[in-house]
Amino acid sequence: MTDAYSDRGNKDRSIANPRDGASMSSSLKGEATPSTETAFLAGIDMTGGYGRGADILHACTVSVDPGEIAVIVGPNGAGKSTAMKAVFGMLDLREGRVVLDGQDISRLSPQDRVAAGMGFVPQVRNIFTSLTVEENLEMGAFLRRDDIRPTMEQVYDLFPILRDKRRQPAGELSGGQRQQVAVGRALMTRPKVLMLDEPTAGVSPIVMDELFDRIIEVSRTGIPILMVEQNARQALEIADRGYVLVQGRNAFTGTGRELLADPEVRKSFLGG
Ligand SMILES: Nc1ncnc2c1ncn2[C@@H]1O[C@H](COP(=O)(O)OP(=O)(O)OP(=O)(O)O)[C@@H](O)[C@H]1O
Ligand SMILES: [Mg+2]
Repeated sequence: MTDAYSDRGNKDRSIANPRDGASMSSSLKGEATPSTETAFLAGIDMTGGYGRGADILHACTVSVDPGEIAVIVGPNGAGKSTAMKAVFGMLDLREGRVVLDGQDISRLSPQDRVAAGMGFVPQVRNIFTSLTVEENLEMGAFLRRDDIRPTMEQVYDLFPILRDKRRQPAGELSGGQRQQVAVGRALMTRPKVLMLDEPTAGVSPIVMDELFDRIIEVSRTGIPILMVEQNARQALEIADRGYVLVQGRNAFTGTGRELLADPEVRKSFLGG
């Protein structure tokens, strides 16, 4: 198997956030099945749906720790975006809870979750197309009262094309560049955890690889990343934890490597 990301490791901690020191060991254990209960961000046994409608999620659990990339895959309509929205507080859960850094945040509004350290890039409508790239980044920092320039420079260092295009309306950018704007906007809050719903939707394979590289770079700075991906095989290759969701339920859970090696997962979700 060609695995371009197999050696990405969690070795480069040079710009890691000191906060994650205690939980680092869990991500260095290698192939051990990830633990949810103590994870930095966890949606645990989430059950709920939209408004008064039927439940979409059924005791669904997802989690991620610092230094890690957790990936949610599954068929269209499986509830992947719904699970992300539930973790972000856009869904009233009938059962279950959401925990961030040891705190139960189940009752916080999405805006309060941003203030608590969550960055969320939704699957659709994740940028303001009529605003410039830089204005989009400024919008991302709307809760901050301190100097946002250094963070903006970090975003431009991560995505240099955005520096070149900073005065252009974001709507004029390519699909891959728009996704960079969306991720950059979320990073402007200096999140403790980043949630991405299909960051590579609609981009070419080359752009997808580039975006994955940038996502790995962000995770190496110590920001845990929980993401949904339709490019299941490629995403699981970079996943420390993987979740296969089917009809709102956890069907398979393991490290990305374990899921890629599982005959059932391969047959049903990875095309053999
Ligand atoms: N705003 C909404 N109101 C009511 N039902 C919704 C809403 N959004 C999604 N659903 C329903 O919830 C179920 C799960 O949808 P969801 O978008 O979470 O799936 P998904 O796994 O993200 O799919 P995809 O791979 O297409 O993005 C579907 O049956 C969908 O019709
Ligand atoms: Mg979705």
